[in-house]
Amino acid sequence: MNRSSRKKEHIEHFLSTYDSRTFSGFEDVELVHNCLPEYALSEICLETEIGGLHLKSPVIINAITGGDLSVTSINAALSKAAALSECAMAVGSQFAAVQDISLRSTYEIVRKHNPDGIVFANIGAHAEPSQAKQAIEMIRADGVQIHLNVAQELFMTEGDRNFKGYLDNIEKIAHSVDIPVIVKETGCGMALEEISRLIDRGIKIIDVSGKGGTNFLAIESSRSGYSLPEDLLNWGVTSAAATIEAAHIAGGKADIIASGGITTALDIIKALACGASAVGMAGFFLKFLLANANDAQLLGNKINGIIVDCKKIMLLSGSDNIKKLHEKPLIITGKLKERLEARGIDISGLSNSRC
Ligand code: FNR
Repeated sequence: MNRSSRKKEHIEHFLSTYDSRTFSGFEDVELVHNCLPEYALSEICLETEIGGLHLKSPVIINAITGGDLSVTSINAALSKAAALSECAMAVGSQFAAVQDISLRSTYEIVRKHNPDGIVFANIGAHAEPSQAKQAIEMIRADGVQIHLNVAQELFMTEGDRNFKGYLDNIEKIAHSVDIPVIVKETGCGMALEEISRLIDRGIKIIDVSGKGGTNFLAIESSRSGYSLPEDLLNWGVTSAAATIEAAHIAGGKADIIASGGITTALDIIKALACGASAVGMAGFFLKFLLANANDAQLLGNKINGIIVDCKKIMLLSGSDNIKKLHEKPLIITGKLKERLEARGIDISGLSNSRC
């Protein structure tokens, strides 16, 4: 199986598995309603910053694809929608095009439709710094995502089996590039211990990409025809738990992107209130696009509608910007509460006004 036909298969198997996604943990987070917010809707500002990069919208179209000619149209539509909604976007792993220049066009297309937007390159944690630089130059990227996908590799028949040296290599890449570096998971989440190790190596932006949305164990299990037991399919840290652990350990030393299973405006605002500075969404946008004949305008309208709803929810929480949202009380219940308490994270500080 070559890398490029795998890209097509991932989209097919994504579609057949996405609807069986599980909890992201944000179900156990409640924002407190403010009946006296004293703001006009026009005053609510969703602009944000990650690693010194200014984003007009906290919503990022997260890494999905590239690397096979058949998926160029998806990157074209995603980049048009990103331009229409002024959201940052990431391309999928560019390793294929670093090795085979005939595939570069499947990524370069995003700059054709979104020449001035914020675009992130994407590369694996084993990439050479020179390969990361090629990926960045290919799309004139404003930032680069380094992805971690150990669980996917292990359950991919043709996947990697050796994950030694990743942390040193991530540090090497980060030192050799002159744009912000985002280290991201791909749907299994991150725990505070590893986030702390990444921050110690100078990483300033962490995308926790937790469990609860796109499930690469399910995708690889569906591709190989070997059905993984239900308990194993559920492996990982939920997005909400990972976001709160990340914010807890980062303490301002890194900016957090929440992602994994985020599908609604309320999810977005809850994720931001849990301490994230931005939110990544991949599966929901891909599903929407494929269900609507790859119509970029429709996706752009959809994202703009979500942003308007986000502003209304911000107002209902009594916040006119994301910094204020970070200080609002949050009620954490159920499995998320149990998990955070078991990890020694004091959630009582979250449930009262944090200003
Ligand atoms: C992804 N994702 C991904 N991430 C990455 O860093 N590089 C990649 O090449 C890909 N490829 C990819 C393909 C497909 C079809 C999907 C749906 C997703 C992972 C993505 O960026 C995100 O981390 C996870 O999908 C979890 O977020 P959602 O999908 O639950 O919003």
